[in-house]
Amino acid sequence: MRYLIKLRMKFFIKTFGCIQNTADSERIKAFYWDKGFEEIKNWKEADIVIINTCIIRESAENRVYGLIDNIDKWNKKNKSKIKIIVTGCLAGLADKDKTGKKLRQLKKDFPAVSEFMPIEKISFDIKPLRENNDMALIPISFGCSNFCSYCIVPFARGPEKSRKMEEILEEIDDAIKTGFKKVMLIGQNVNSYGSDFGETTLVSMGKKRFKSLFHKLLEEVAKKDLDKISFVSSNPWDFSDELIEIIAKYENIDRLLHLPIQAGDDEVLKNMNRGYTSKEYLDLVKKIRSKVKGVKFSTDIIIGFPGEGEKAFQNTVKLCKEVNFEIGYLNKYSPRKGTVSAKIYKDDIPMSEKKRRWNILNDLINKK
Ligand code: SAH
Ligand code: SF4
Ligand code: F3S
Repeated sequence: MRYLIKLRMKFFIKTFGCIQNTADSERIKAFYWDKGFEEIKNWKEADIVIINTCIIRESAENRVYGLIDNIDKWNKKNKSKIKIIVTGCLAGLADKDKTGKKLRQLKKDFPAVSEFMPIEKISFDIKPLRENNDMALIPISFGCSNFCSYCIVPFARGPEKSRKMEEILEEIDDAIKTGFKKVMLIGQNVNSYGSDFGETTLVSMGKKRFKSLFHKLLEEVAKKDLDKISFVSSNPWDFSDELIEIIAKYENIDRLLHLPIQAGDDEVLKNMNRGYTSKEYLDLVKKIRSKVKGVKFSTDIIIGFPGEGEKAFQNTVKLCKEVNFEIGYLNKYSPRKGTVSAKIYKDDIPMSEKKRRWNILNDLINKK
C-alpha cells in the first residue's frame, strides 16, 4: 500500500522599510498560514519568498533588487523553483503607479518575479500574526496625499485612506484581550486621520484642510486599559490644539512624540513642499511643551536636499539645537524617479558632503 504524504508548502518573508510594512507583514503571515503554508527562517528551503518592499531611497530599492537577484541565481544554479512574490511599495509601482502613471516596467524588468502582489489583497478581515509581543501595531490609515516634493510614497501607496474608527477600536480591543498593554497607531500622516471622510474644512498653517478626527480616535484609545499609546508619523501642519489637549489629558499617551522636521531652512522646506516654516515648527514645539509636561521629540531629517547650501544646513543645525531632539532619523537625499524634486532639481550636494553633514547631525542629536 502506498501512502500519499502531502507536505506543507513553506514560505519565507523578508520585510524592508518602515513600521507600516512591519504591520502589513504581520497580516501577510497570517494570510499564508491560513492558506496552509508554514513559515521558515531560511529562504533557500522555501517554496515561496515574499518580499515586502521599500523604495524610499535608492539604497533601500537596491537591497530589494539584491535579494531578488540572489534568489534568481540560486534557482538557476540549483534547478530549484522558489517563487518570488513582491509586495509593498515597489509592487505599488507595478505597471502603473497609484496615480495612474507608468513609473516602472517591473514585470518586464524582473522576469524572476512571479507576482507583484498589491498589498490591498491582504484585507483587514485577516487578523495579524503579531510578531512583537510587547506592542500591537495598529494601522489607522494608508497612503498619503501630501506629495512632499522628494517622496515616492504617494505614488507607491496612493492617496490617504483612513480605516473606519469602529474597525480600529475593535482591533485594539482584540489586542487587549490577548494581553497587549501597548499599542502603536500607524500611518504616513496619522494626525490627518479621517480627513478623507471629508467632514468640515479648517485652515492650518495657512493651508485649507479637511478636519482630522485623529484627536477623537486617540481619546477613545486612551480611555482603554492600555499603559502606552504611541503614534507615527505626525505632520506638523495637522497637529491641532485639540490633539495637544488630548495628549495632555491622558498620561498613557507616549510623551516621546515623533514630529518630522525634514529641514530647518525655510527655502528648503518650501522646495520640499512641507507646508510650514521653521518658525511655525518651533512655535508648535513650544506650544506642545507648554501644555504637555515632560514631552520629548524625535524627528526625521533629509540631508543634502538639492540647493541646500552651508547656510541652509546651519539653519537645520540651529533648529536641532533649539528643539533638542531625543532621536534623529537622518536620511541622505536620494532622488526618486517620478517625484517633483527629481524632475526639477539637480542632486547637487556630493555624497561626501552629505556624509559630513550626516556625522555633524548624528553627533549633535544621537550621541548626546
Ligand atoms: N510620512 C512621514 C515620512 C515617511 S518616509 C513624514 O512625512 O514624516 C520616512 C522618511 O524618509 C521621511 O521622513 C524622510 O526623512 C525620508 N525620505 C523620504 N523620501 C526621501 C528621499 N527621496 N531621500 C531621502 N530621504 C527620504
Ligand atoms: Fe512622504 Fe510627505 Fe507623505 Fe510623509 S507626508 S509620506 S514625506 S509625501
Ligand atoms: Fe518605504 Fe513604503 Fe514605508 S517606501 S518607508 S516601506 S511607506
